[in-house]
Amino acid sequence: MAAFNELVFSGVQPTGNLHLGNYLGAIKRFVEMQARDAQCLYCVVDLHAITLWQDPAELKGQIREVTAAFLAAGIDPARSIVFNQSQVPQHAELAWIFNCVARLGWLNRMTQFKDKAGKDRENASVGLYAYPVLMAADILAYRATHVPVGEDQKQHLELTRDIAGKFNNDFSGSIAAHGHGEDFFPITEPLIGGPAARVMSLRDGTKKMSKSDPSDNSRINLTDDADAIAQKVRKAKTDPEPLPSEAAGLSGRPEADNLVGIFAALKDATRDEVLSDYGGAQFSVFKGALVELAVEKLAPLGAEMKRLIADPAHIDAVLADGAARAEAIAAPTLDAVKDIVGFVRKGPSLRSV
Ligand code: TRP
Repeated sequence: MAAFNELVFSGVQPTGNLHLGNYLGAIKRFVEMQARDAQCLYCVVDLHAITLWQDPAELKGQIREVTAAFLAAGIDPARSIVFNQSQVPQHAELAWIFNCVARLGWLNRMTQFKDKAGKDRENASVGLYAYPVLMAADILAYRATHVPVGEDQKQHLELTRDIAGKFNNDFSGSIAAHGHGEDFFPITEPLIGGPAARVMSLRDGTKKMSKSDPSDNSRINLTDDADAIAQKVRKAKTDPEPLPSEAAGLSGRPEADNLVGIFAALKDATRDEVLSDYGGAQFSVFKGALVELAVEKLAPLGAEMKRLIADPAHIDAVLADGAARAEAIAAPTLDAVKDIVGFVRKGPSLRSV
């Protein structure tokens, strides 16, 4: 691997129906990270997807759709490593070792598990419970230093830091005996932020934009055409007041805040900059401008996704190439981890060459 200063890792679940929240909160930021002095790895996390039931007849298409979104958005598969998680066995292997480092008490605090498991917790998969441990393995198999994610993943990133710290501490003697520095695993930096760290439903500004919302008008799907985008923006819920002239005036106005945040993220501006143009405007005017901007940015992205999806052999070749390059980084980490833990293993993993 070329010597980069930073190693960036992030993932998106292939659970169907990518929407504006996935784009602004994650994928668009992944593209921007490529400008840094960083090796970037972008992973389609299929092992995470099956913590909730996925129809096997649909899953391959969903994996290719996320890959297509990465490429269409501007992730360059020659510069960044684009792959799907299940092709790189070190994720699941390291997750098992981390299952033995993480504590039940830590996982019991995870709010996403509580939300996703719902009332019938006894019937949730063991994988759903262990989900954040696999996420730590994703990140630490590459000893990633920076992880761009949406606001909702903050707690999982804290768990990753706790697992790294406990591993470094529990095995400190063995880490030193094997000639590694004290911080075998880095304490990863979450990169959360931007105007659209949380994109909310177009029908209810207090709820996250979600693929599982029964109303399709609540979200803009990345494959929506210009007419659908325009219609959904025009129907988006608002309040009766005109727009304020600065961002502070958006507090207590969740729908206005959400639409201004979306506009800002699409425009690469701040809320304040957007409001310096539209402060005092009625929503009818602002929505017109938002339709124009959203169509300009999203319609070509959706069209390119459709073009890529029509050629699955190309997508599969990108994923296979990415998986080989990812494994070349993860395999030596796993060899070192096995030595540190005290396992007997066959010589250097063939995969590390
Ligand atoms: N849990 C993340 C999400 O749903 C996806 C994910 C899995 C991830 N592994 C990761 C994100 C590692 C960042 C790093 O958004």
